[in-house]
Amino acid sequence: TSNLLGEETDPVDVEAEDETTKKVTILFGTQTGTAEGFAKALAEEGKARYDNKVEFKVVDLEEYGVDDQQYETKLKKEKFALFSVATYGDGEPTDNAARFLNWFIEGVTDKEPFLTGLTYAVFGLGNRQYEHFNKVAIQIDAALEKQGAKRLVPCGLGDDDQCIDDDFTAWKEKLWPELDGLLRDEEDGPAAAVSYKVAVPEYRVVMWESGTKIWEHTDSLQRNGQAIYDVTHPCRVDVAVRRELHTPLSDRSCTHLEFDIANTGLTYETGDHVGVYIHNSRENVEEAAKLLGFPLDTVFSLHTDTEDGEALGGGSGSLPPPFPGPLTLYTALSKYADLLNSPRKAVLSALAAYASDPEEADRLKHLVSPQGKEEYQQWVIASQRSLLEVISAFPSVKVPLGVFFASVSPRLQPRFYSISSSPRFAPTRIHVTCALVHGPSPTGRIHHGVASTWMKEVGDLECSRSPIFVRQSNFRLPSNPMTPIILIGPGTGLAPFRGFLQERAVLQEAGETLGQGIFFFGCRTRYQDFIYEEELMDFVNKGVIELVVAFSREGTTKEYVQNKMLEKASDLWRLISEGAYVYVCGDAKGMAKDVHRTLLSIVQSEGGVSGTQSEAIVKQLQVDGRYLRDVW
Ligand code: 2AM
Repeated sequence: TSNLLGEETDPVDVEAEDETTKKVTILFGTQTGTAEGFAKALAEEGKARYDNKVEFKVVDLEEYGVDDQQYETKLKKEKFALFSVATYGDGEPTDNAARFLNWFIEGVTDKEPFLTGLTYAVFGLGNRQYEHFNKVAIQIDAALEKQGAKRLVPCGLGDDDQCIDDDFTAWKEKLWPELDGLLRDEEDGPAAAVSYKVAVPEYRVVMWESGTKIWEHTDSLQRNGQAIYDVTHPCRVDVAVRRELHTPLSDRSCTHLEFDIANTGLTYETGDHVGVYIHNSRENVEEAAKLLGFPLDTVFSLHTDTEDGEALGGGSGSLPPPFPGPLTLYTALSKYADLLNSPRKAVLSALAAYASDPEEADRLKHLVSPQGKEEYQQWVIASQRSLLEVISAFPSVKVPLGVFFASVSPRLQPRFYSISSSPRFAPTRIHVTCALVHGPSPTGRIHHGVASTWMKEVGDLECSRSPIFVRQSNFRLPSNPMTPIILIGPGTGLAPFRGFLQERAVLQEAGETLGQGIFFFGCRTRYQDFIYEEELMDFVNKGVIELVVAFSREGTTKEYVQNKMLEKASDLWRLISEGAYVYVCGDAKGMAKDVHRTLLSIVQSEGGVSGTQSEAIVKQLQVDGRYLRDVW
């Protein structure tokens, strides 16, 4: 990519030649910014701990190497490397870590250990509710050891279901004393205790006169006439269609949205994901501006301390600001500030630094301290207090814009959706099927999910233009249409399967013979949330698919997709024996786990094998790419 950091990697090589400076490289794999924040916090703490005598460099895994060769050359040169890496969905790496992981786990299997000169430690960010808890961190940790690198402390397993900040602190408490032995000079005296104070990063702010022309996205690079769109170069498209999928009898809501991609050069495949940059609601933006104490039409820009050779204190690291600017505060808050998530401890530290009332400052510091652990867990995490709620609870806090955008709020991240159309059926459209997230939080605030609310209301707003990009997935129909398929996807888990069915219908019309297909869909009742019912019935009538629906709230007992699978156990086993592909899409925490268990028991009973054997068979399906999951 043309990201600034791409160019900045070269000086690293030059510095590596300088044997006198000790250097620690901190590599991060981040999706929502948390792993990146932890990497930066490590660097700031490290700099302070070793009086700036050790260099700490924070690098995005995507930017670390342009190709496998560069990954290898660079890693070989490192003496100390720390990793802060997140795991997503079905044990997947973050987008910016995918290429590195692919090379490091699969690409270097037959090499002699080549990292014998490296000392390392890994901290993982995951969620214990998911089956593949911290898979990526564990894989990287094991692969480093396999390549001969020396593990400093056990891999940290951060659990976002509890308090990941505390897991991070516990891991650091083990890490620093070990690093001290390697990085501190004898004459430095005794090491400091582990610090709980997080350095407050800051961007330099330049204020512009109102009326200054504000910064606009430029169009993406064109290479050989082909547009290249990705997470840093999204494509701006219009919303062409929006409609509600639930009936008025439903107390929930689900939106069908179509992005118009005609003449943009943006392309996709059936089963891909679309990343969508959404905006905060006007209501939330206005509240945030009020709390910050600046009018919405304030025009400003943000700069790093290293830019223009100007050295400023505070240290936001070398990472570029979320936007080059100048921008109005309105636009900056609506696009680049995550206002509704619960703030991390680093954020509370920043607020504490700008509280003019000493009592408020003390309370904030307490929440960050080890003694305040329980209270933070209760008052912030369990109560799902949003950043806006937290700031408004401390009226004396006035955070400068440069601090707010550097640390108080992570950038508003793109949301990913499984595309619910097929390009063979809808070449100029990308369809999205999005359930509304909406409900009271424990503090009584009515939480409106930022993205799903935007999608539900986008047509009513003046602005229905949105930056989007496509992310490839491994969720693909078998290349031979004759291969049987088993689809399992209740609720919005239906999304990619709608694309699959569109594709199968087009193939059938073109004269192809389709293998047997069976789709297990689940919803509450046929009168409320049987989304796309007509379309589905049409596919059934054409012989594109056999449909089995589990209605969870129609009868006296709950029926879920897995119950329906059991009823069809012998058919399923026959199809699997004939080479069927099995696809699961939807909720990872409940449904995908239950479906997995059901699949194991079907293989066991119908195949007449032991529990261990059925696990081996299902594992083999996974390895062969015949059991695919798109779960969240
Ligand atoms: P429920 O809301 O009645 O519990 C789509 O959301 C459908 O998935 C709903 O019918 C919902 O049922 C159902 N569902 C909830 N938890 C599930 C689970 N663990 N496995 C399968 N389906 C589930």
